Amino acid sequence: MKFAKRLSLFLLLCITFSCTNNRVEAVVPQIIPMPLSETILEGEFIFSSETQIVSNESFKISTRFLTEYLSDFNLKASEAEVNINTIQFIKDETILNTEGYTLDISTETIKISAKTDQGAFYAVQSLRQLLPESLEIGNATEKQFAIQCLKIEDEPQFKYRGMHLDVGRHLFSTDFIKKYIDALAMLKMNTFHWHLTEDQGWRIEIKKYPRLTEVAAFRDETLIGHYNTQPQLFDGKRYGGFYTQEQIKEIVKYANNRNVTIIPEIEMPGHSQAAIAAYPELGCTGEQVKVAQKGGVFEAIYCSKDETFNFIEDVLDEVMELFPSEYIHIGGDEAPKTRWKSCGKCQKRIKDEGLKDEHELQSYFISRVEKYLNSKGRQIIGWDEILEGGLAPNATVMSWRGFNGAIEAAKQHHNVILTPGSHCYFDHYQSENEEEPLAIGGFLPLEKVYSLNPIPEELTQEEAKYVLGAQGNVWTEYMPTSQKVEYMVFPRILALSEVVWSNPENKNYNNFVSRVENFHKRLDVLDINYANHLYEIEGEVVSKETNIFYKMKTVSKGKIIRYTLDGSEPTLKSDIYNTAIPITNKVTIKASVFHNNEKLGKTFSQKINLHKAVGKQITINKALNSSYPGSGANGLINGIKGSNSRYGDKEWLGFSGEDLEITIDLGEKTNVKSIKTRFHNGNGQWIYAPKKVEFWFDVNDRIPSAVLLNSDEMLVNIRLEKEVNTRYITLKIPNFGIIPEGKQGAGHKAWTFIDEIIVK
Ligand code: ACM
Ligand code: ZN
Repeated sequence: MKFAKRLSLFLLLCITFSCTNNRVEAVVPQIIPMPLSETILEGEFIFSSETQIVSNESFKISTRFLTEYLSDFNLKASEAEVNINTIQFIKDETILNTEGYTLDISTETIKISAKTDQGAFYAVQSLRQLLPESLEIGNATEKQFAIQCLKIEDEPQFKYRGMHLDVGRHLFSTDFIKKYIDALAMLKMNTFHWHLTEDQGWRIEIKKYPRLTEVAAFRDETLIGHYNTQPQLFDGKRYGGFYTQEQIKEIVKYANNRNVTIIPEIEMPGHSQAAIAAYPELGCTGEQVKVAQKGGVFEAIYCSKDETFNFIEDVLDEVMELFPSEYIHIGGDEAPKTRWKSCGKCQKRIKDEGLKDEHELQSYFISRVEKYLNSKGRQIIGWDEILEGGLAPNATVMSWRGFNGAIEAAKQHHNVILTPGSHCYFDHYQSENEEEPLAIGGFLPLEKVYSLNPIPEELTQEEAKYVLGAQGNVWTEYMPTSQKVEYMVFPRILALSEVVWSNPENKNYNNFVSRVENFHKRLDVLDINYANHLYEIEGEVVSKETNIFYKMKTVSKGKIIRYTLDGSEPTLKSDIYNTAIPITNKVTIKASVFHNNEKLGKTFSQKINLHKAVGKQITINKALNSSYPGSGANGLINGIKGSNSRYGDKEWLGFSGEDLEITIDLGEKTNVKSIKTRFHNGNGQWIYAPKKVEFWFDVNDRIPSAVLLNSDEMLVNIRLEKEVNTRYITLKIPNFGIIPEGKQGAGHKAWTFIDEIIVK
């Protein structure tokens, strides 16, 4: 394995160093994120160890970064006025955006102009991508590099360009945290949201409260496999650790030298079970709880008594010492109010403060902490639950449960950051391939991330000004190693970097994909474990009049698809796919992407079950949910079953709390012998199979409702064995109802997920 990697790196270096006269040829500019404007000019700048850097005090960070990046060349930096063979940093007050820059490469000089060091830093990041990937790790054996002459004018769309990392569920080395920050900087992202406290582990040393690192930083064991797998099994291994204040100081400095601000998150009042395990008096009941051993939402939350606020203020004092960021994230999400309801002190607080209920108590909690942080010159960010019961006066809202939090907050003239689960949760699956490594659920392919518009349509131009930007969230329940984090983050972070940096008018997914393909070489050299789904095939059943066809495509350009219909593996001899394949029978299509006589990626395999409803008309009485629309109502009768283990793919349709009525029009009276469908049961994700389904036909001959049993199983099959002559089939599917106490999402309405309705 290691050898193979070395070998491919060696080959890569041989290719990139394919040189003329001992000079490395200029790379074709394929910068990510795409600059605002880029004009390719005639000629090349020849970079060598003779090249000098001309800079000054204003560009300390960017100059240092460049000289360190090119340390093999021992470039001299001076303030001297040399014009030939130089990389010049020029202060340009006319560039209005403080993160903007121009990069002007001529045969004689490379001019980096910016108003600020940060702008110049981003020019350096662009220049970096105009040099061969091999320079990422130094050891350049060649002496001269050609760089394409061009002019770039660039600036970001949004001022908040963030990535989050949860180190509570799993912990990562300080070296990895630096590698993560390096990646952010390379992609012109400027904020690292460091999620430092969780139910499963407290990760920041607080000198005043040593039990936070002695007790709260360690859990006895960890859930094995997926939360929804029954019975839940645990590994029996103690797990934990934390970052010392010295380590944190070093990381903050490291990030600062890359123009990355670290926003620490200290969760409250929920997700605080680890802290309560260390100091039970912080909770309402005082009972001893354990540091949590699995993900989810827990009822042990901070009590609203004064003693808790004293603790929180002490913790935040030390946090503010370590992190100079304007913003401190105070969490605020997923705090069940169960304990508060039965706590004398919390109820007294509600009464004394004239609050209406526990939601207003949460608002009081957050506002009180905000007031404290504001008094120290800091601002708070909270997850969108901080809207419930009233927003703290100066809070910035991080909208994660879709876009509504952002809309509501912006309309109230509060700043917002978009992190909707539908587009920004990098803990979701990124491919429908069943072999994908375990993830929490959902489905967030690269294209969906790329499609994000952080400004919700519902906002006026004036309100849109409150949108600071967007962020990718990386919750690590299912990411025990840094390699897994990289797999989940790359390449989706590349898409997000364009969402937050590039001009939406320049957005073009196909063009982006070709640049991602090129970027793989850089990620290889950087030893970043990215996911590659560019050579996957996407298929779709389409109907034309009464005929059924199967269409396929792959995102990367200039490749061919070969396929078989007999279940065999596609080879160089298999048919080339040009046009939709007619489907006249039950069939398994296997297809692969080929390029230069070589098979790329994995074989795609799709079973199509041509039952009586395929290609017919279908209606659902409820609008599709924007987060789980599957491939629309037709996806329920396209002959394709959804994944057995996942609900976020193109085949499953999700509905939140709604009673469904689905009608299939078979076009004419048809003999129906059986109907089969299934529901997903993923109780950790609030998904419950309905308790019953009713079937209705044209004839007023109601079949007794089918009661679903075994609801602990993931899948429920219903079979109907009574022949009916009918044109219409209606399924009435009442929602499961309110999620019971003790379960994730208790008190909320359950989700219903349904896939193929098979009519025979
Ligand atoms: C969140 O995902 N609980 C903010
Ligand atoms: Zn209490």
